[in-house]
Amino acid sequence: MKNPKEFNIDKFYEKYRSGPKIFKKRDALEPSFIPDELPHRDAQIQKVAELTACTLLGDTPPSLLCYGPTGTGKTATIRYVSQKLEQQCTEDKPWWIYINCSVVSTPYRILAHIYNRISGSEKIPPTGLPKDIIFKKLLGILDQKVQSICFLVLDEIDMLTEKKKGTEILYDLTRLNENLDYCKTSVIGISNKLKFKDYLDPRVLSSLGQEHIVYPSYNADELRDILNERAKIAFHEGVIKDDVIPLCAALAAKEHGDARKALQLLRKAGELAARAQNKSVTHKHIDDAQNDLEEDHIVEYIKGLPLQAQVVLTAIFLISKFSPDHIITSGDIYGIYSELTQKIPGVRRLTERRISDYINELDLAGIILTNLKSMGHYGRTKFIKLDIDLELLENIFMEIDKFQNVLNYKPVLLQLDKVKIKNNIFKKLI
Ligand SMILES: Nc1ncnc2c1ncn2[C@@H]1O[C@H](COP(=O)(O)OP(=O)(O)OP(=O)(O)O)[C@@H](O)[C@H]1O
Ligand SMILES: [Mg+2]
Repeated sequence: MKNPKEFNIDKFYEKYRSGPKIFKKRDALEPSFIPDELPHRDAQIQKVAELTACTLLGDTPPSLLCYGPTGTGKTATIRYVSQKLEQQCTEDKPWWIYINCSVVSTPYRILAHIYNRISGSEKIPPTGLPKDIIFKKLLGILDQKVQSICFLVLDEIDMLTEKKKGTEILYDLTRLNENLDYCKTSVIGISNKLKFKDYLDPRVLSSLGQEHIVYPSYNADELRDILNERAKIAFHEGVIKDDVIPLCAALAAKEHGDARKALQLLRKAGELAARAQNKSVTHKHIDDAQNDLEEDHIVEYIKGLPLQAQVVLTAIFLISKFSPDHIITSGDIYGIYSELTQKIPGVRRLTERRISDYINELDLAGIILTNLKSMGHYGRTKFIKLDIDLELLENIFMEIDKFQNVLNYKPVLLQLDKVKIKNNIFKKLI
């Protein structure tokens, strides 16, 4: 006999196909999608267009720098202008070579990337050639194959200034034209680190920093316009309830006015509605999407923490798990942290001061709550509480190999009479 509850995949698809439709063009909410209009970026588009228009007459545009916080449309406007400019050029179309410096991050790989993009065939190997040889080869191919303007877009350019070699390559790239006869290059740097200019080598700044374009964060009204435009393309008519976009815009505006976040929230809400086979996207879907995204963010943050900080968090986790009533102090955390350094391979025991810095960082990130109180005879004491779901934290640690063995470890410190007595006193004093 067939189990009546068995999942029938064919029926599921059938129902799915005939069920309510949420998305008309879901891709329109993907980060790579470039819309036909970029609301509230007129000033920036105009400036980039003015500075690069001389390409149409065969002249070389100046290098320029775009900066502003994350999700403010820097990459999108540059891609947008590049498309428009390309459409306007009848002959000798400019080349646009786009390099994300957080991915292509070494000087060698940047030069190889530019060369390989232009050559299309003769590839420079991923390692091995001396830099001056690739450099000569690059100059040769630029003059030979490009013979017009070549834009070098260095996105996340701040990644390069962290190392000396990165600064050198920036200097070299901004001076390419001095060694070129037919081709001319123009560097467009993009950064979301506002202080980035302070770290630039003055020689680089003198050419790259001549023209800069600032991207301010979006406010809630601006985000609402951006989302409305995108929603028209992405969703079927009438699917989005009236209060959904204002809510989405308000939530994203609170979080630094990041358009990427706002779009992500709307997309996630749409996906939740589609998955539940609902007819429309409502307030509730946005709330759920926000929770899901927050959870994703926590998972990503914890997985990306340095090992030492993860051990500190494990100590807090173990106290919360095995003694939920225990009032946690930074001293307890250090004691259990020290126990854990004996149990987790490759962890050196750091000083209490360093651990206190990690506790502060976890507090700032919203993973824990801390409260400093004066405890009379005991002096000022920091009390700590986990501010995220215990089960979520356990699931995250289960996915990190090094921690699997300690998740069921009952800390010895919690069993000590001395610690128990002190904790009882704290309970009364608090
Ligand atoms: N004015 C706008 N109109 C429509 N969509 C926008 C606008 N500004 C940004 N977006 C969209 O928001 C997302 C993020 O924009 P973009 O990638 O350009 O941000 P960014 O400033 O480069 O951020 P980061 O510094 O993190 O790289 C993209 O999907 C982009 O299409
Ligand atoms: Mg970008």
